[in-house]
Amino acid sequence: MQSLTVSELLSQNIVIPEVEIKGWVRTFRANRFIAINDGSTINNIQCVVDFENFDEALLKRITTGAAIHIKGELVESQGKGQKVEIQVQELIVLGDSDPETFPIQPKKHSFEFLREHAHLRTRTTTFSAIMRLRSALSFAIHKYFNDNGFYYMHTPIITGSDAEGAGEMFKVTNLDTKNPPLNEEGNVDYSKDFFGKETNLTVSGQLEAETYAMSLGKVYTFGPTFRAENSNTSRHLAEFWMIEPEVAFMDLPGNMDLAEDFMKSVIKYVLDNNREDLEFLDKRLKDEEKTKPQAERSDMSLIEKLNFVTDNHFKRVSYTEAIDILRNCKPNKKKKFKYLINEWGTDLQSEHERFLVEKHFKCPVILFDYPANIKAFYMRLNDDGKTVRAMDILFPGIGEIIGGAQREERLDVLKERMAAINIPEEELWWYLDLRKFGTAIHSGFGLGFERLVMFATGMSNIRDVIPFPRTPQNAEF
Ligand code: 4AD
Ligand code: MG
Repeated sequence: MQSLTVSELLSQNIVIPEVEIKGWVRTFRANRFIAINDGSTINNIQCVVDFENFDEALLKRITTGAAIHIKGELVESQGKGQKVEIQVQELIVLGDSDPETFPIQPKKHSFEFLREHAHLRTRTTTFSAIMRLRSALSFAIHKYFNDNGFYYMHTPIITGSDAEGAGEMFKVTNLDTKNPPLNEEGNVDYSKDFFGKETNLTVSGQLEAETYAMSLGKVYTFGPTFRAENSNTSRHLAEFWMIEPEVAFMDLPGNMDLAEDFMKSVIKYVLDNNREDLEFLDKRLKDEEKTKPQAERSDMSLIEKLNFVTDNHFKRVSYTEAIDILRNCKPNKKKKFKYLINEWGTDLQSEHERFLVEKHFKCPVILFDYPANIKAFYMRLNDDGKTVRAMDILFPGIGEIIGGAQREERLDVLKERMAAINIPEEELWWYLDLRKFGTAIHSGFGLGFERLVMFATGMSNIRDVIPFPRTPQNAEF
């Protein structure tokens, strides 16, 4: 008896007299055709029962969602739609699924409904495809870095520093919140806390990754990241995964080359290896687009968008050029933007980023050399004294997908910038040490993994590309 996955069974060209399969029932039609899925592929295997030979009570238990074990013969299919099917000889129900209460029925469910049933939503074709793609993208990322001589570094999740200086952190403490120890000034005395200091969940592994770049040369992190920003948007999570490469002796143009090559490579990987899932999601998106007004429809299908990224050069544009374009563009002049662009120095909102990518350049864009005061303290100051060597990569439908920079490697300049925004030197003494001992130029970037998964699956809400999303007011499961 050969025990194969659905994926393996469907690729057989020969009749196999004895096979067995375990999986979950997707549908049971005409008291004869059971469609079984085991997660190994988007496709189901059709199992044909001669109901005359089976107990009626047993057949009643073949309901959507039930776990079953089937033994039979793999034969060429009589019907259309599949090459092979299983002629059932023995049927065992492993776990029943009450059709009255099982929430995932073979009909269209809204994404909102499925989010509330996130523990069961991967029983649907759409979510199983998304999560297989998520897994493949994750593998492609590790493969890319491994193939290119990078070391994988595990940066701490609990940290005492605020890497982005944005103050959007979740506190980590085991003090009694009702009755915390107080110091003489009446503030909470964190020296009595578990770590003897104030600690948070990390917002980025970058600062620690820099320490390893300055010894191992090329490193990357891929880990969970936490941000307590109260933005309830379709692109923000409170817990997300970030990939952060960091490379010694690499300048900003080198950083752009790396990011572009990396993005193309991981997208190409799924185009080559996850075709069936992508084709399904491509069709899903086309159907969704049809429900939108003509003006809001995308002119490219999902697979066309992915090919577009792998085949086209990312357009490199300075912040200053971008501001000129935005200031003079139609939606700005006609006051169609929610935030109007009036002057150099304003931060870009996602509506501006998407205008540049989708309407103006119509390709992925790398914006660089941003005003220093809208970017983090660690970015290298340009000779003009007002811009920094930052880069953001903007993707169609997503906006910012990557944020990165060449780092400030000069001790005096870094100290000045930290002082200007009140970051105490004691807090980052080890980071300053890198500039004292063998400093060199270095660069890196951070890719928001879920934003990449959104792009690769064509999903428009970030909550639908991570198994159990954490957002304001929501940490179920
Ligand atoms: O632009 P960010 O804040 O950059 C950093 O954290 C740098 N330390 C990275 C580096 O240079 N090593 O974040 C990087 C990316 C963003 O471009 C975005 O894709 C994603 O992380 N991101 C989020 N994704 C989901 N939910 C959120 N709340 C996110 N915040 C940032
Ligand atoms: Mg950013």
